[in-house]
Amino acid sequence: MSTAKKEYKRVTTNSLIEMKKNGEKISMLTAYDYTMAKIVDAAGVDAILVGDSASNVMAGHETTLPITLDEMIYHASSVVRACHRSLVVVDLPFGSYQSDPKKALRSAIRIMKESGGHAIKMEGGKEIKPSIKRILNAGIPVMGHLGLTPQSIYKFGTYTVRAKEEAEAKKLIEDAKTLEKLGCFSIVLEKVPAELAKKVADQISVPIIGIGAGAGVDGQVLVTHDMLGMTHEFHPRFLRRYLNLFEDMSNAFQQYSKDVKSKDFPNEHEQY
Ligand code: KIV
Repeated sequence: MSTAKKEYKRVTTNSLIEMKKNGEKISMLTAYDYTMAKIVDAAGVDAILVGDSASNVMAGHETTLPITLDEMIYHASSVVRACHRSLVVVDLPFGSYQSDPKKALRSAIRIMKESGGHAIKMEGGKEIKPSIKRILNAGIPVMGHLGLTPQSIYKFGTYTVRAKEEAEAKKLIEDAKTLEKLGCFSIVLEKVPAELAKKVADQISVPIIGIGAGAGVDGQVLVTHDMLGMTHEFHPRFLRRYLNLFEDMSNAFQQYSKDVKSKDFPNEHEQY
């Protein structure tokens, strides 16, 4: 295993596989709009996920279920316009692929054609095997998503850690093997015990990207608005906050409002 870090002009699905082979950890963050994606891309983050977490973060819904395929395409096309280096992966939203493989393929094609995204992500294991197969057969790269799968929140009932019990852990490993065998280029593992996640990453040849899955996996993904501290009411153990933007932005907005009311803004240099 080489430790030399290769420079990637444009990160592709193959680059991620290569990074795993070379023991280089993969960085991934979410983005849903042009301005944020531009900053994330320029910072050298390997992959950008246009997650259906846009449903919570951008639209204020309680779950990821309400976001539509049209809305995902709108977010994804804004992100794609901003990206020069990062791989852009787009979530297939709830309801756009669960019913049948033909519908799943139609949804994936719309994402690729209308947004220009580079790959799609789907939640689930062997139960969505026919849909994954059909999408892969059309030449569309697929990232899997196992563990806590928020589109199934009403089945789980809670957002707590998944696969703590042996039966669920066993199913998760089997599902990861199924996704690898089908040809998924990577798998997200969300909120599972670190020991189990490492076991999966050790047994599977494609990169395992963790969120709340510990340090033994091949890369990490976080929701950008969470790691920037914009969503201050959300603080799971796995989240590292790099900024406290809620407070900083709130202070800026308060100051602006004061300046307007006190007639301090605009001053003579801030007008024509
Ligand atoms: O939608 C999303 O942001 C995700 C990540 C939490 C992995 O799926």
